[in-house]
Amino acid sequence: MAVSARTRKSARLQRLEAAINYPIDWLEERSGLVGGLRYFLFRKVPGDSNWFHTLGSATLTAFLVQATTGVILAMYYKPEPKTAYASIQHITNDVTLGWLVRGMHKWGASVFIILLFFHMARVFLFGAYKYPRELNWIVGVLLLVMGMAEGFTGYLLPWDQTSYWATVVGINLNGTVPFLGPYIAQFLRGGAEIGPDTLARFYSIHMLLIPGAIFALIGLHLYLVVRLGVSSPPWSKEAAGADWVEEQVTTNGRSGLTQPAARSSWRRNGGDAE
Ligand code: HEM
Repeated sequence: MAVSARTRKSARLQRLEAAINYPIDWLEERSGLVGGLRYFLFRKVPGDSNWFHTLGSATLTAFLVQATTGVILAMYYKPEPKTAYASIQHITNDVTLGWLVRGMHKWGASVFIILLFFHMARVFLFGAYKYPRELNWIVGVLLLVMGMAEGFTGYLLPWDQTSYWATVVGINLNGTVPFLGPYIAQFLRGGAEIGPDTLARFYSIHMLLIPGAIFALIGLHLYLVVRLGVSSPPWSKEAAGADWVEEQVTTNGRSGLTQPAARSSWRRNGGDAE
């Protein structure tokens, strides 16, 4: 009796599994996306990876929180001088959980920038910007610039005294750039003075242009992380061990290219077809 109950249960379980697997298999057969995701999630990383290696993913999480809360805010925000401030007040005071979403977006912006700097500091201190990851460092620098521009353009949107004068200072600072300064300032203002056109421009840059660029750059950044593998910490015995000795023999004296922490994990991840 008990056995037949178990059998019945496992048959039900099998049917459930088949129902779950069907759409996944359907997608995999037609796109290979599931295999790609599985490879991304379960790929090999150095055994001595540590908590510092989670800072990149933490930065990614902070960005996704910003993107999600930003979409919700954009449903209520009205980007015109007469309505902007009132719409922000409406979000904070009247919209259900509006105060929470706005607070997450506002404070999350600082969290995102802080994590970005922590992640960059980790990469720098671990020497992970060296060969073969220079290109990924450059992509990272572009992400940093985009992240800061996102903060600058977002700051004006509440259209209160603080945001107005902070933007005046920011645009004036940009105006001091040699040769290009006046053009950059004119472009940011959208005219001779800060006004409705500036607000519309900052809104468009803040919610369309820069987030799009950041998404694309993060895609490239992660592609390079997967392709090159994550580097070991500089103190890693694993990275500077036996294969480092072997490496010197196989690199034909080009030891300048073989920074141990970066190079050997590149090899462990199958990057070198020797
Ligand atoms: C939106 C911003 C960013 C996101 C979401 C992001 C995400 C990530 C992730 C998930 C990793 C792999 C895990 C890790 O090492 O933490 C990584 C690695 C890396 N990131 Fe970033 N990153 C960002 C910004 C930056 C910046 C500003 C730089 C430097 C200027 C940078 C340079 C690198 C480099 C060189 C690696 C490879 C590190 C290694 O192999 O050990 N990233 N990033």
